[in-house]
Amino acid sequence: MERLPKQVQWGLHVGLPAIILPAPPAQEAQFMEYARVIQSLCMEAAQASVQLWIKVALTDVALHQFDILSRLCDAPACLGMILFAEPLAPGSTSASSSSVSTGTMVAAQMTALHKAIGMQLKALCFPTKVFLTNKRGYPTLAKINQVLLTEALRRIGRTLRIVVEGPSVHEISDGAGTGGTFCLPYVQYIHHVRERPECTQALDTELAKAELHYLDSLQRPLQPLADHLENQMYETFEKDPIKYVQYRSAMLRAFDTIILARANKNGQGQGNMMTDDDDSSHVTNTNQNNIVVFVAGAGRGPLVTATLEAFEFVVKQQQQQQQVGAGTTLPTLTVFALEKNPSAVIYLNAMVQGDPQWKKYKIKVVHQDIRLVTPHLVDGLKADIVISELLGSFGCNELSPECLEVLLASEVCKPITLSVPMRYISHIAPVSSVRLYSEAKHQAQLPAIIAIGGGGANGNSTCTNAISGQSVGPLAAMETPVSHVQRRWLILGTYFMFVLTLFFFIMRWQHCIMFSQTTLNVHYAATTITSTCKFKNTNSTL
Ligand SMILES: C[S@@+](CC[C@H](N)C(=O)[O-])C[C@H]1O[C@@H](n2cnc3c(N)ncnc32)[C@H](O)[C@@H]1O
Repeated sequence: MERLPKQVQWGLHVGLPAIILPAPPAQEAQFMEYARVIQSLCMEAAQASVQLWIKVALTDVALHQFDILSRLCDAPACLGMILFAEPLAPGSTSASSSSVSTGTMVAAQMTALHKAIGMQLKALCFPTKVFLTNKRGYPTLAKINQVLLTEALRRIGRTLRIVVEGPSVHEISDGAGTGGTFCLPYVQYIHHVRERPECTQALDTELAKAELHYLDSLQRPLQPLADHLENQMYETFEKDPIKYVQYRSAMLRAFDTIILARANKNGQGQGNMMTDDDDSSHVTNTNQNNIVVFVAGAGRGPLVTATLEAFEFVVKQQQQQQQVGAGTTLPTLTVFALEKNPSAVIYLNAMVQGDPQWKKYKIKVVHQDIRLVTPHLVDGLKADIVISELLGSFGCNELSPECLEVLLASEVCKPITLSVPMRYISHIAPVSSVRLYSEAKHQAQLPAIIAIGGGGANGNSTCTNAISGQSVGPLAAMETPVSHVQRRWLILGTYFMFVLTLFFFIMRWQHCIMFSQTTLNVHYAATTITSTCKFKNTNSTL
């Protein structure tokens, strides 16, 4: 242990990307001394942007030890673990063994791996003695270690490092001639596993590559209402493989609902809930076959495309009905793409002029905040459907209920205008990750101004005054403005919590800390995170 600081300092001096350190000693006094040394080395390593990787066996005891070590050192981001695969017990040496005991071992190993992934797992090490020998004399891994390698690669992705350690125990030339390490066949075997479809399908797809920078890293919540999003961010949204399919099918249902309601009205010769007859405002859509869609917050237009695709499908259905003599009239479509981001508006206008699918329809781009849309901007028409995706990235921090409420209640919508989605629920789930914890801790230590205020919630504020300050890191999620009344309750609530906590602190100081933390968490979840928003008309769901 005495030589450790000097060895690490040499590693820092020569600029190694990572330094592997021995496993912590089991004996308590030595363990504490080891933790103290590691803590001070971490400070030096962090300054030099070098990682320190502690050797850890894939057992519950070893993982627990690493967890304690990491906590004692204050969970620095530069402290990671390198998991060591153990040689198999004698008797379980088959590379493709599929016995029940292998199954149990694999399950236990997966549970341990799952824990390790939340604890700064940086690398896997396979000592050469762990490798078995195949029929041709080449190194191969036992089934259990193949599963470990594959799963770790799939879960951690391209940032996981694989290390082969030790002298060659297979007498196969690696082509390096005399003086070679004879270790190339081991590395080739690792490459072979990496190239299997189980790994390539998880790591080498376009989606996997796009996700790479977002995995296991703390993201600053976006503020798409206060800020103008960049092109690259829209590109990332548009790679979502599920969202637009869901929107398309929701739009199909919305179109069907409107067409059916209009057909019923025509058949019955009287007013119906999906027609304009109950429209009290002076603006009405005179062409009863025309369906007017507002895309609220159109971005670069994927929801416009989803709308067009759904409409095309509906028209095809109608044409088929005409052929069988059902006597339907084909609907027409008018789309207004409402967007406040000037750069996105340029993109939308280019789409209107250049995209072959868009050119087939009447699409108008309106550069305006959706809360300020007036009849003359939308040619005096009223929306039959408002389609939007204004969720922000934490809870509904894009103020979507506040913005949509204003639009849906305005004179450019009808009491019967459908909203897609008609409701959404934000979920929050607990995760355990040393990496994220240390990142959050680091960011929380940066100076932060948390904005509580602005008039966004009343629907009258502009984009710029909705959020009035700058905050840092995870705290940025709290930026959703609260009204003055809410703020007063928040201050009163905090004061009440403080008095209550003080009371309990005096009564039972040991339990008090637990109590206050729990209560504050619940309060935070209830007011800021958990949100269920519901919009008008329940006919279309997403
Ligand atoms: C989360 S993005 C989604 C964009 C697009 N629907 C997509 O799927 O890529 C939300 C978009 O709504 C716009 N937006 C947010 N609030 C708005 C408002 N009040 N008025 C107009 N546009 C708004 C943002 O500028 C952004 O382009």
